[in-house]
Amino acid sequence: MKMTQINQIREAAAYMRERLPFIPEISLVLGSGIGPLADEIEQPVYVPYGEVPHFKTSTAPDHAGRFVCGMLAGKRVLCMQGRLHGYEGHSPAEIAFPIYTMKELGVAKLLLTNASGGINTEFKVGDFMLIEDHINMTGKSPLTGANDSSCGVRFPDMTFAYSTDMRETAVRVAESCGIRLRRGVYIGVNGPQFETPAEIRAFRALGADAVGMSTVFETIAAAHCGLPTAAIAMITNMAAGVLMQPLSGAEVNAIAEQKGDELRKLIRALLAAL
Ligand code: HPA
Repeated sequence: MKMTQINQIREAAAYMRERLPFIPEISLVLGSGIGPLADEIEQPVYVPYGEVPHFKTSTAPDHAGRFVCGMLAGKRVLCMQGRLHGYEGHSPAEIAFPIYTMKELGVAKLLLTNASGGINTEFKVGDFMLIEDHINMTGKSPLTGANDSSCGVRFPDMTFAYSTDMRETAVRVAESCGIRLRRGVYIGVNGPQFETPAEIRAFRALGADAVGMSTVFETIAAAHCGLPTAAIAMITNMAAGVLMQPLSGAEVNAIAEQKGDELRKLIRALLAAL
């Protein structure tokens, strides 16, 4: 008999509980360029995704594909160094699985980071944007199929998917660090191709400020299982057609690396305040 989703989650969480030194308070998902933050974790314990029952492993370049657990900014953190993406061929449910596992483990808050293209023409490359809301443009949901009511309700509310409390804290912390934090709507696409200029104009008309290939499935899963979530996007490039120049993954990575220090500073300060 096929194991139910909640049983798989419980098995994964039980394995993690055995390996980790403590129950983490905050989970961090590190996107492109911010992966090195995991190297600042004190007394780190590593758990490669491949060792956790029912987990899929990440294939994206520069995504290490492991949990790093330890102390960061005075908090017990569990960091996903590298995440799964839809464009790698992972199903939305596979991408959501680690989120449910963290919740089952006893994690109280989730902080997501990502690299995004700027759609809002006021934005500049290198800006940070607090995600206030999202548009799921992938046409898919991690909640497709039978609902396991042990995970959450059939029709979860998304009004407060990005926690009001955590957003307020992020705004306050960024101000006190002297880091400019834009705010806006993230539109999540499947990729891996970048968007066309026509798509970006359409997304702007829909109310999106930044576009990326991650985050929405993780946030949906977190809303489903009641894990308060905040997300910060790094604007690594202006989206297609905003500037009359081609986009490249190399450019995204170069900016992510350049601005990584500042984002790490913001995330550390935010962790301390959460
Ligand atoms: N589009 C989609 N995803 C991205 C982009 C972009 O312009 N930049 C970084 N991730």
